[in-house]
Amino acid sequence: MAEQGRHDDAWWRTAVIYQVYVRSFADADGDGTGDLAGVRARLPYLRDLGVDALWFTPWYRSPMADGGYDVADYRTIDPAFGTLAEAERLVQDALALGIRTIVDVVPNHVSDQHPWFQAALAAGPGSPERERFWFHPGRGPQGDEMPTRWESSFAGPTWTRTTGPDGAPGEWYLHLFTPEQPDLNWDHPEVRAEHEDILRFWFDRGVAGIRIDSAALLVKDPALPEVPDRPGPGEHPHMDRDALHDVYRSWRRVADAYDPPRVLVGEVWLADAARFAQYLRPDEMHTAFNFDFMARPWDAKELRESVETTLEAHRSVDAPATWVLSNHDVTRPVTRYGRADSSFDFAAKRFGTPTDLAVGRRRARAAAVLTAALPGCLYVYQGDELGLPEVEDLPLDRLQDPMHFRSGGVDPGRDGCRVPLPWSGDAPPYGFSPTAREPWLPQPRDWADLTAEHQAQDPGSMLSLYRTLLALRRDDPDLRTGALRWLDADAHDGVLAFMRGDGLACVVNLSPAPVPLPAHDAVLVASGELVDGLLPTDTAVWLRLPAAPAATSRPTPTPPE
Ligand code: GLC
Repeated sequence: MAEQGRHDDAWWRTAVIYQVYVRSFADADGDGTGDLAGVRARLPYLRDLGVDALWFTPWYRSPMADGGYDVADYRTIDPAFGTLAEAERLVQDALALGIRTIVDVVPNHVSDQHPWFQAALAAGPGSPERERFWFHPGRGPQGDEMPTRWESSFAGPTWTRTTGPDGAPGEWYLHLFTPEQPDLNWDHPEVRAEHEDILRFWFDRGVAGIRIDSAALLVKDPALPEVPDRPGPGEHPHMDRDALHDVYRSWRRVADAYDPPRVLVGEVWLADAARFAQYLRPDEMHTAFNFDFMARPWDAKELRESVETTLEAHRSVDAPATWVLSNHDVTRPVTRYGRADSSFDFAAKRFGTPTDLAVGRRRARAAAVLTAALPGCLYVYQGDELGLPEVEDLPLDRLQDPMHFRSGGVDPGRDGCRVPLPWSGDAPPYGFSPTAREPWLPQPRDWADLTAEHQAQDPGSMLSLYRTLLALRRDDPDLRTGALRWLDADAHDGVLAFMRGDGLACVVNLSPAPVPLPAHDAVLVASGELVDGLLPTDTAVWLRLPAAPAATSRPTPTPPE
């Protein structure tokens, strides 16, 4: 079963996918920045963790104005990370351990150093080179007002004015993110053809799929209207426009032409579950990140509602759900769940938010048990398996994230979840680099207990919990394919209880008091110690329920969804 699950073409329906933020994973050459050789050396760790695939954040040549999401060349590896030959070897070596590879494709924008953008700047207004982007004259008699007042996802304006060779101000260009990330014009056939070719370039190298960055933003309304107060479905001028689906349908055709077919995973931030599901129709993407679940607070009603809405929306298109607790853009769960407001919202990020890390850690452990029990695909962001907290006291002069700078220093930015991993030893760089050199972001001095080496020897560690969860998940038929049914009859207020298949129950106590458990034969895994047989606050378990003959004592599940 396990082997079959790993090798069949529908592997992506139940996979555990580990996100490698290359810069911060492991540094083999000692320059303080993670690299491909570092990942290669740690492949046995990833095999032992039990993941099915790795998603690499962009490893392409980039000036790093946005951590690599400003790509200057989609077909070469950034020299800080290694070479194309190393990437090819890494893909093969991972595969030899049964681990597939997903690469990150960034279609909405390129780096301002990309040859296309440099050519567009040089060629001037009205040129075919500029048509691949969104160059536009300014408004007003002097052309000094931006073409629109659209707001950037990184705060501030979305247009920057060019300067001609004579120093005179010229046209403006659109960038939904930083000025170093000019947006491509997806109405242009060359933009479409180029990206299909990039997909083939990586698929030909054996990668199993792509993660599509900012997937709902590519297409813009060419009339450039302002954003309405309450845009109806498909009415937003630069988000979730209907024409996007045509792009993904053509990418699906590219992916399906391979044997085995390659997989498309979308980064789709959309509040509307029905619109979200449209991206997952059978001839579009295979899966997309479930940010609704990720952003919810640690609250039983909220989480249950999100699970239900998610499963319902995915059922309508026969796509598997994904469960994501964090990634390289958001606050680490150990920190987020330790706060009075444990929801996630980019706009609400502030320095100095009070946090109880002991509470956060307990909840993050329970959240791992919960998400690993849900039907679909599980994402693990590097370092979450070690229970790393957000690093909130990085020296200000070491911060790199444009989100921090563009907010005028109000938003701490995303560096705190990107701190290099601690592997071994008692002091920085904790085995991240082979030398004593300080990594590109400094690591806290109190991470000795959080290293992978330390945690591997401790059965009560977060790493041991993740290893147990992933091993059980891989081998248990109920967890692989069993339907989810809520155990309403047993649920207390603030408790999530559900079955997978007929034999496995997951119970999570988010209430302030310990609760009894349904009758069971065995506790398969628990995020914390049971006390007198009760499940304490902020604790989760997987239970093996009595087999069929003893079914009379079993709780009555609600009908299958
Ligand atoms: C995505 C990435 C994020 C990046 C942005 C712009 O949201 O996850 O890291 O900054 O796109 O490319």
